[in-house]
Amino acid sequence: MSASQRPRSRILGTGAYVPERVLSNFDLEKLVDTSDEWIRERTGIRERHIAHAEEATSDMALRAARRALEAAGLTPQDLDMIVVGTITPDMPMPACAAFLQHKLGISDVPAFDISAACAGFLYALSIGDQFIRSGMHRHVLVVGAELLSRILDWEDRTTCVLFGDGAGAAVLGPAGEDGRGVLSTKLHTDSTLLDSLCIRAGGSKERITPEAIEGKRDKVFMNGQDIFKVAVKNLTRASASALTESGLSPSEVRWVVPHQANMRIITQVAQRLDIPLERFVLNIDRYGNTSSASIPLALDEAVRDGRIQPNDTVLMCALGGGISWASALVRM
Ligand code: ACO
Repeated sequence: MSASQRPRSRILGTGAYVPERVLSNFDLEKLVDTSDEWIRERTGIRERHIAHAEEATSDMALRAARRALEAAGLTPQDLDMIVVGTITPDMPMPACAAFLQHKLGISDVPAFDISAACAGFLYALSIGDQFIRSGMHRHVLVVGAELLSRILDWEDRTTCVLFGDGAGAAVLGPAGEDGRGVLSTKLHTDSTLLDSLCIRAGGSKERITPEAIEGKRDKVFMNGQDIFKVAVKNLTRASASALTESGLSPSEVRWVVPHQANMRIITQVAQRLDIPLERFVLNIDRYGNTSSASIPLALDEAVRDGRIQPNDTVLMCALGGGISWASALVRM
């Protein structure tokens, strides 16, 4: 059977969760030399949610996963695999997905993490889709969950104002004959800008020493302007080629769910794709950049409030550290 003849996967249900605590731009004015006006004008962010001290990434993932399972009409026992996109797992080892499996009360299904930064959810979606298309698994839970507030330098105004915590999930299952389902996924990595977005210490290359901690080398470092330029270029290209290969025109896309990193990036991508901004699902103002959680958070919001309807064609695209980026076309 050729790949195109194999049954697609379909998103059976979505779910999301953000912690209760809200940190506004005005709160940040008290922490670093910034202003609500600068943050809003340069990024579009007004506030973000921050996890409480006892909350771990898998706790947020669990809440999102339960909601997605409920929406799909399934139980944890129905799952055949769990894939979590995250750069902030509970521990370096084992995987956040293993903690999630435990908290869901199931065992003996493969559960693993994917490290693709902000593109993590779309990487997880693509992997889940492949396992279902191949016939190896029936129901796959894909999650994007990040507790970025733990890995930020709260004295660095160039990064700490951008990010927030949260989780989103989707349950994938076999599609029917009605044309709904994951139409395509495209994954890319270009290591040219490895050093422009990274956490320098804490892996095997550089240990966490008192000097590393002093130099904040265990926290997120980003050259924002480098990333901005490649984000506009690569998100546009990945989205445009997904449309071309699927034989769809921009006007046939009902909704775009973009990674919510910067409103200016999203606006430029919208212009280049020739898709009006009104057809973009936007929640960056309330959540900031939640990395791999950003797309499933926005997707779930638009499904639950009725903007995204069954059979709508939805284009998703994300880019983050690596530089890794991805797009997905889905008929909901
Ligand atoms: N408040 C006030 N001033 C600030 C702040 C702040 N929070 N941050 C920076 N500035 C200052 C800078 O110091 C600079 O001052 P100077 O001109 O005196 O030197 C000035 O503002 C302009 O700084 P720029 O870096 O040029 O600002 P820019 O317009 O590029 O916006 C931003 C910065 C928001 C980071 C933008 O570059 C961006 O969004 N980049 C892409 C982020 C992204 O997509 N990341 C990928 C995903 S993240 C992941 O994978 C985990």
